Formats: sequence, C-alpha cells, structure tokens
Amino acid sequence: MVEFALPPKSRIKPGKTWPAPQGATKVKTFRIYRWDPDKGGNPTLDTFHIDLDDCGPMVLDALIKIKNEIDPTLTFRRSCREGICGSCAMNIDTDNTLACLKPIEEVKGTVDIYPLPHMSVVKDLVPDLTHIYAQYELIEPWMKTDTPAPTSGERLQSPEEREKLDGLWECVLCFCCSTSCPSYWWNADRYLGPAILLQAARWVFDSRDEATEERLDMLDDPFRLYRCHTIMNCTATCPKGLNPGKAIADLKIAMFERTG
Ligand code: SF4
Ligand code: SF4
Ligand code: FES
Repeated sequence: MVEFALPPKSRIKPGKTWPAPQGATKVKTFRIYRWDPDKGGNPTLDTFHIDLDDCGPMVLDALIKIKNEIDPTLTFRRSCREGICGSCAMNIDTDNTLACLKPIEEVKGTVDIYPLPHMSVVKDLVPDLTHIYAQYELIEPWMKTDTPAPTSGERLQSPEEREKLDGLWECVLCFCCSTSCPSYWWNADRYLGPAILLQAARWVFDSRDEATEERLDMLDDPFRLYRCHTIMNCTATCPKGLNPGKAIADLKIAMFERTG
C-alpha cells in the first residue's frame, strides 16, 4: 500500500518533536512529513530543531544531519549534493526544488518539507517514480539511426545544431516540474508531463537522430502532448532554470509544421 503525498492537512497529525541541542544559539525548526508503509496509518509532521552553527548551509545538509544524529529512520533520496543527480527533489517551503540547492537561510521561519506532490509515497520523502520512469521509457530516450555510423568517426553536428540542445540536455530528471503541473496532477495516466516532454524534445531536436517523424507520431495524441495548457508552473519551479513550457511549445510548433 502506498500513501499519497500532501493529503488534506487534517489527515497529517503532529508527530514527534525533538528539542534543540543544549547551548544552541542559532536554532532553525524543520517540520518534516513522515509516513512509514510498515506502520500504516495517517502521515505525521515531525519537528526537529537544528543548530545552524553546526550544520551545512543547504536543506539537504539539515536532512543528512537529522538522519545521522537524531533519527536514522528518516528516509529521503540523495546522491551528488551538487544538483546533478536530481534525486533529492522534494517540496520545501511550498516549492518543488532540489534540497541540495536550497539554502536554509532562504526560508523564513519554519522549514516545512514534504515529498513531491501528487505522487505515491514509498516512505517519508521518497516518491514512487515507477510510473514516470515508464513514461520516460515510452519516449525512447536514446539516439535512433538507420544510416550506418561514419567509419571516419562520430556523427557530427554544426555548432548551430548543437545549440538547439541547450536548455534540454541539462535536465536532471528531478520531476519538480511534472509534479507542479496541474494538468499532470489530474491526467498523469495519459499526459506525459513537462519533464518527459522536455526529454522528448531533446531527441526530436537532435540533428543526429533519424527517428524524428516516429517520435512526433508517438506524441501526436490529445493527451500525451496536448494536455499542456501553458500554465507554466513547470518553468517557474525548475531548479535548473530550464523552460519545459517552451520545450513543449516547440514540440507543438514542430508538430504543426509537419502537417502544415
Ligand atoms: S506549461 Fe504545460 S507542462 Fe508546464 S505546468 Fe503548464 S500545463 Fe503543465
Ligand atoms: S525540466 Fe527542470 S524540473 Fe523538470 S525534470 Fe528537468 S531539471 Fe527537473
Ligand atoms: S543530491 Fe543530487 S541533485 Fe540533490
């Protein structure tokens, strides 16, 4: 059984509270969503008090400190601590973002931390990414070619062709954008959402790829692509400063241009 993130606030009960360390003078309060599939029941919000004089500057530093020093059962994903792996995505102070890129000091008052919204939760801050990775697989995110590779070396691009991939290749698949998109919240079964569509654009606009028509055929569907209503939450939230809303608009233009 899985718990859904951000259930009605009335279902999230106050949980355990850990006191501030003795002698701490720069204390910050963190309220963190907890839900354990082995225990079941309603989720709780646990409260931790951290001495910022004895903690790194980012929200991920505080989470790691809590796990190492206070409650080893606190569960979250992380790997690189550099905004590269995309695994520490969560909802902090009402925004979807990467915990390793979010300075604690940017949050006024208590730091509220939830899992990414509208995803099933595996445990605590860990969303279930099974469905969204199945959607990623659907767009076949690899180079597809019919012509043999040149014997002289790699498939080359001009600087102009390469530039078309800027703003696309940098995506770290954190899914902050898709989980902030109202269209994706309500139609995730059929709409691919901004993260996967940006990835689709990354291959459609790659001059070396030879499956452009096939890729556009796959997207030519009232739900997969056209469920985007240009609300732009996706672009506003992307912690890498990318513009999935524009990538989706570019896909729609490419679709229009081929049909005339
Ligand atoms: S622009 Fe499209 S993908 Fe982005 S939040 Fe809006 S509806 Fe979702
Ligand atoms: S576009 Fe931005 S928010 Fe969306 S998955 Fe990629 S890096 Fe994350
Ligand atoms: S830990 Fe890799 S992006 Fe945050």
